[in-house]
Amino acid sequence: MPDVLWCNGRFTTTAERVIGVEDRGFQFGDAVYEVFKFTEHAPAFLSEHYRRLERGLREIEIGNPWRDEASFRETMREILERTEFGDGIVYIQVTRGEEERAHFWGENLQPTAIAYSRRYRFPDAARKERGIKVMTAPDLRWKQCQVKSVNLLANAIAKKKAQRAGADEAILIQDGVVREGASSSFFAVIDGRVITHPLDEHVLPGVVRDRVIDLAIAAHIRVDERPLREAELFHLAEAFVTSTTQGVMPVTEIDGRVVGNSRRGEVTTTLQQLFDALELNARGFAGSVRSS
Ligand code: PDD
Repeated sequence: MPDVLWCNGRFTTTAERVIGVEDRGFQFGDAVYEVFKFTEHAPAFLSEHYRRLERGLREIEIGNPWRDEASFRETMREILERTEFGDGIVYIQVTRGEEERAHFWGENLQPTAIAYSRRYRFPDAARKERGIKVMTAPDLRWKQCQVKSVNLLANAIAKKKAQRAGADEAILIQDGVVREGASSSFFAVIDGRVITHPLDEHVLPGVVRDRVIDLAIAAHIRVDERPLREAELFHLAEAFVTSTTQGVMPVTEIDGRVVGNSRRGEVTTTLQQLFDALELNARGFAGSVRSS
């Protein structure tokens, strides 16, 4: 059964090939994307995903195919209404558009926008307790990582190397500094304090990252947004990664060395529980329509 696909305002399914060979997303990776989660047909943190998409489009000068957040929400509501399964993700991509291949793009190009829903097996309770193993890898990405661009070649290569080494995620290192996961934000816990990279061009502003920081502060857990040195990785009490699909996921091994006592740590457990509760309560289309 093909998935529900929305393309430039029209509904079809993923069985239809809707992207042209000269689309700049295909030719140049000239596009941004978003991924949001839904459970029981209700999206989580939709406003936050919209705002990041809007910011990314603005930064690389692609026109926003949606008039405003309300019209974006309406498209997503229609997709989920037509989707048969209750739990999954929606993948959204906006490219600069399609035209005869040339590095210079035309000024009046119409963006190509697609969004489709897909089933997704989110980690179960056992997985969330067991956690994951990670491997460090050099960060070979472009220098504007705050933009959620579809240029994921460096991320994909790092992740494949990690997988071949028996790890679940690659942690990207640049200039001796831990940046983030290949598809997740990275957090360390040292002396009861939570440490994660500050928001700048080296990391993606993760939707889950921001929520977890707020939850930690509200729970009186100290948060340091500072670059973590690679050398510190091997003296952590706890570590975890965050992402839309994995939520708060404990890291129990880094490059074959155990983290803490090799079990999901106390701070990680607290933040995982707080985040799961927030995600459940914040679901739906009734969420706030805020401007950035
Ligand atoms: N990836 N950093 C990178 C490089 C990512 O690709 C992602 C998410 C994150 C976490 O962001 P968020 O909390 O907003 O999901 C951090 C998505 C899920 C993906 O590529 O599938």
